[in-house]
Amino acid sequence: MKTRHRLTVIITLSISILLVFIVRAWQSPEPLTGNWVVRTPNPNNDGTFRTTYLNLKQEGSRITGTIRTTQFFYRVTDNTGGPDGFTLTASMMDGKSERKVQYDGKLIGDELHISTRRRPQDNPTQMIAVRAPAGEGALPARNPLPALHKVPDNGLVRTPPMGWNSWNKFAGRIDDATVRSIADAMATNGMKEAGYVYINIDDTWEAGRDAQGNILTNKKFPDMKALADYVHSKGLKLGIYSSPGPNTCAGYEGTYGHEEQDARTYAAWGIDYLKYDWCGARTLYTDEEMPAVYQIMGDALLKTKRPIVYSLCQYGRLDVWKWGADVGGNLWRTTGDIRDAWDSMTRIGFSQNDLAPYAKPGHWNDPDMLEIGNGAMSETEYKTHMSLWAMLAAPLLAGNDLRSMSPEILAILTNREVIAIDQDKLGKQGQRVWQSGEQEVWTRALSGDAIAVAFFNRAKDEAKITVKAADLKITGKWKARDLWSHQALIWPETESAVTVPSHGVVMLRLSR
Ligand code: GLA
Repeated sequence: MKTRHRLTVIITLSISILLVFIVRAWQSPEPLTGNWVVRTPNPNNDGTFRTTYLNLKQEGSRITGTIRTTQFFYRVTDNTGGPDGFTLTASMMDGKSERKVQYDGKLIGDELHISTRRRPQDNPTQMIAVRAPAGEGALPARNPLPALHKVPDNGLVRTPPMGWNSWNKFAGRIDDATVRSIADAMATNGMKEAGYVYINIDDTWEAGRDAQGNILTNKKFPDMKALADYVHSKGLKLGIYSSPGPNTCAGYEGTYGHEEQDARTYAAWGIDYLKYDWCGARTLYTDEEMPAVYQIMGDALLKTKRPIVYSLCQYGRLDVWKWGADVGGNLWRTTGDIRDAWDSMTRIGFSQNDLAPYAKPGHWNDPDMLEIGNGAMSETEYKTHMSLWAMLAAPLLAGNDLRSMSPEILAILTNREVIAIDQDKLGKQGQRVWQSGEQEVWTRALSGDAIAVAFFNRAKDEAKITVKAADLKITGKWKARDLWSHQALIWPETESAVTVPSHGVVMLRLSR
């Protein structure tokens, strides 16, 4: 009897405790559960916000959910702690590599105070999240992709595009007035005469969309049509930037789901060039789906009937050089972002050898924009940059402040003889023909039975480069011209020896 009584008491107690738990869980969810947003104004007072959404579910000491920030969408994979102090690890696949992020935080009142970093050694970014309505900031559903077909050639850029792009120098600090003054500079400083024509606005011009879904410009660009008219009045062309994803790399509005509509808007504004940057698309699509995603915009641009150069920017993934032209691309980035540094420039430039077969009139490998004049390399190094890009038949998109460059930098950018190599109408990309340690020689076949030869010295000291004509696969007599000293020189038939400064180049044009 005594035992039965005890058992009844234990069972009743257990049921009551369980009931209390169930009722509490039902009445007040665990405090971290919910949709949280951090909204930080973007720099430069452009009226837009950078957002991070943490959509969390707390069950006891377990926290699950997703974190969406600019172009990234992570799933929480691990956590320790609770509302009084927690650490979340979240991860996403970006192409073939896993990208991880860590958030530390605690709940203070109804604010989530968090600090985040990618790697333990990074300085954490502090932020405060507040509650957002359920569903706000959710990733849109994945749109079905079209079957692949060959997008007809738009007939543009039979030689590599030349112009200027805002990103390398200005990043988010680009606005209407700056673009106009850059156009003024290009139209009057000799660059236009030398062949530069595109003025390309990179990321951070975008705002959201209106009720009809039309893309809007932010405060920095009050009237894109008027800006295009202005640039056109200078005899130049205007380029713009977007992403096939919901967000651009800087977290601004992308084109996702509005491809045809945006292409029509660009055409109506008078846009002549589109750089289309993968970034936010990685939240919805795999690398293998890139061709279909890029084809949507290739078709959309053609449909506008306006000649718009189509520049693919997906960092050379999935061997873009093999399919870029088929989806309507005029050029495609072959690497990650360039920096104004000798290591970055040479790592990119000298790694392009194997891509030569894929360059042809209208379709170019793009080793990224020029850093010439941005200040962190020497003039000798910038000459190497210019020469290498010309040997590669690369787009020549200046990335410096054209309004305030020195005459020496302007002279590098407007060296007509080097530009003529880049713009050679045969459209054949140069290749390495000889290498010994840090010295290498590249040649490029030119129209009119001519050849460009560049002797590069990547070493810390001056070097004498001696090569046999046979090494360069050249025979017979040639007239030679030095494209930096602008002088004729003697080209010996069997062996040539050239002294090249540290990090420098000697670039020649050989003709019969
Ligand atoms: C990526 C591109 C850059 C630039 C930025 C803008 O990093 O590769 O060239 O367009 O995005 O956010």
